[in-house]
Amino acid sequence: MEDLKQVAAREALKYIQAGSTIGLGAGSTIAHLIHYLKEDAALLQSITTVTSSYNTQLLLQEHGFTIKEIGGVSRLDLYFDGCDQFDRQLNALKSGGGIHTREKLLAAMADKFIIIGDGSKYVDQLYVTYPVVIEVIPEAVPFVLLQVKKVFSTVNPVVRISNKKDGAVITENGNLLIDLWFTTFPPVDTINPQLKAIPGILETSLFYQMAQEAVVAGKTGVEVIRRV
Ligand code: 5RP
Repeated sequence: MEDLKQVAAREALKYIQAGSTIGLGAGSTIAHLIHYLKEDAALLQSITTVTSSYNTQLLLQEHGFTIKEIGGVSRLDLYFDGCDQFDRQLNALKSGGGIHTREKLLAAMADKFIIIGDGSKYVDQLYVTYPVVIEVIPEAVPFVLLQVKKVFSTVNPVVRISNKKDGAVITENGNLLIDLWFTTFPPVDTINPQLKAIPGILETSLFYQMAQEAVVAGKTGVEVIRRV
């Protein structure tokens, strides 16, 4: 049986027009979208892709897509990405991948940012199941750990450690990641302004009011949610 992420990916395919430049994020739902795209040889030949993800890039290369470097583009027609969790206002947490700085850049470049996923990710309000992740320049880590505890009374900040090698996870930008585990989630509109005010924090994994639409597949069918 087709899983719900596949269903959402197949629906997302309908947005892509010949000749467009599209951004693609990370994860299994995006891999399904690439699978459907490669089945339409004419569409595959006509589009240009840009990706925030190393694994997605490998997949695009394998199937012969035209790929541009992020630094070579300033706008996209569409950006598709999955997420860990998103709410009714389409605020999304994209915390698991640790590549949110590039993902946010591509989302901001796009005329339309569309979240795709299965219904398990859709919640009334963002909840503490996932951390808010911050990318931090290495020299600022001790300072940032201190500051976030001063700003948020309900946070436990933890430097992300690799489970494949000894030491911290290092991002593509040479920085570290700190997972901010909240016991109670602060008001969602206050999180980014407070974090971005702390010197040394490059970007957060909270995508506040960035997505225009979400394509969500549930047991009863596909729903398209638009931000109002
Ligand atoms: C990671 C992400 C990914 O897009 C998300 O994990 C996608 O997951 P899935 O495999 O369910 O498509 O935001 O931070």
